[in-house]
Amino acid sequence: MSILITGGAGYIGSHTVVELQNAGYSVVVVDNFSNSFPEALRRVEKITGKRVPFYKADIRDRSAMEEIFRKEKFECCIHFAGFKAVGQSVTAPWEYYDNNINGTLALIDVMRKYRTKNMIFSSSATVYGKPAFVPITEDCPKGKIVNPYGRTKSMQEEILADIQKADPEWNVILLRYFNPIGAHISGLIGESPVGIPGNLVPYIAQVAVRRLEKLLIYGNDYHTRDGTGIRDYIHVSDLAVGHVKALEAVRQNPGLEIYNLGTGKGYSVLEVVRCFEQVSGVPIPCQVVSRRPGDIAVCYADAGKAERELKWKTTRSLADMCLDSWRWQLGNPNGYHDACS
Ligand code: NAD
Ligand code: WQD
Repeated sequence: MSILITGGAGYIGSHTVVELQNAGYSVVVVDNFSNSFPEALRRVEKITGKRVPFYKADIRDRSAMEEIFRKEKFECCIHFAGFKAVGQSVTAPWEYYDNNINGTLALIDVMRKYRTKNMIFSSSATVYGKPAFVPITEDCPKGKIVNPYGRTKSMQEEILADIQKADPEWNVILLRYFNPIGAHISGLIGESPVGIPGNLVPYIAQVAVRRLEKLLIYGNDYHTRDGTGIRDYIHVSDLAVGHVKALEAVRQNPGLEIYNLGTGKGYSVLEVVRCFEQVSGVPIPCQVVSRRPGDIAVCYADAGKAERELKWKTTRSLADMCLDSWRWQLGNPNGYHDACS
C-alpha cells in the first residue's frame, strides 16, 4: 500500500516526500506541474536515494485519476494540490474555486469509489481570519476571511468534515499551517516562486541575491513590539515531519481531527530581516510603505495539541530557516527554472 501525494512536486509536497521516504513509506505523487517542475522530484530522489513514482495528471480529471487508482493501492492521501497565491485569488477567483474546490471534490469522488478513506489535508492559519486570540488554539473560532484563497481553504475543510460525518469510515486530519519558510538542508529543493514573490522570506532571499532591489515593509504602525507584523514562521522540513506524524495518527482511525502546525513563536518582519542579514552577511535594503490590505498584526500558533497528540515538535530555529532559505537561493538563484531551460 502506498501514500498518494497530490501536489507532491510543490514546495511543501516535495519536502514531505523526503520525510516520508526517509521514514520508510512508499509514496506515489500526482501533480499537473502547474506550479512546479519534475526536476523537484529528481532532486528528492537524490536526497533520499529512492525512486519517486509520479503521474502527471490533474486531480480534476476523474478518468486520469481513476486510471491511477486502478493501478496503485492507496491507504491514504495527503492532499497538497491546489492554488495558493492570495493576490491571484482576488483577481481570478473562478480559477481558485475551480481548482481548489472542484479538485478536492473530484479527488474525494475517486477516493470513495476505490475505498481510500484516509485523508490528510493542507489547510492554513488563514482560516482564523483576524484571530480572536493569540496564541491560536484549534478551537479558536474561524474568523472573517478576506480573500477567495482563504475561503477555498475554509470550504475545503467544511466539505471534508461533512464527508467524514456522513461516512465515519473516513478519517480526516486537517493541518493548519502557519508560515512555512526555509528549504531542505541540502540546498537541493526549496520554494521556486513564479514571478515576483508575494511572501516575505522568498522576497528577502531575492533581494539578497540582487534579483530585487529592496524589500517593501508593509506597515510599521501595528500594535506590535516594533510596529511590523508578527507571524509564526515554521521550517518546511519541520512541517514535513508533521505530516509523517499525522499519517501515523490517521492510521489509528481518529475520525476528524484538526492540528495547528506552527512553532508557537512569533517574529516580526524586522526580526526576520535582521536574522537573514546575520546568517547571510548580506545587507537587505528596506523601505517602509503602507499596510497591505487584508494583513493582520499578529498571528502565531498554540502548537500544544500537535505536541501532545502527534508527539510532534519543531526543532529548527529562525536562524536555521533563514540559513536554509539562503543556501537554496544562492545555489538556485532562479529556482528550478535554470534546471529546466
Ligand atoms: P505549491 O504551489 O508549491 O504546491 C502545490 C502543487 O500542486 C504544485 O506542485 C502544483 O503543480 C500542484 N497542483 C495544483 N493544482 C493541481 C491540480 N489540479 N492537479 C494536480 N496538481 C496540482 O504550494 P505549497 O506551498 O507546496 O502548498 C501546498 C498546499 O499547502 C496548498 O494546498 C496550499 O494552499 C497549502 N498551504 C500552503 C501554505 C504556504 O505558505 N506555502 C500555507 C498554508 C497552506
Ligand atoms: C508575512 C509578513 C507582511 C511581504 C500568507 C497567506 C497565508 C499563508 C501564508 C497559504 C506580513 C510582511 C510580506 C513583503 C512585507 N499561505 N511582508 N513585505 O501574509 O502571513 O500569509 O502566506 O495558506 O494564507 O496569506 O505571509 O509572507 O506574505 O507576510 O512586509 O514583501 O511579512 O505584511 O506581516 P502572510 P507573508
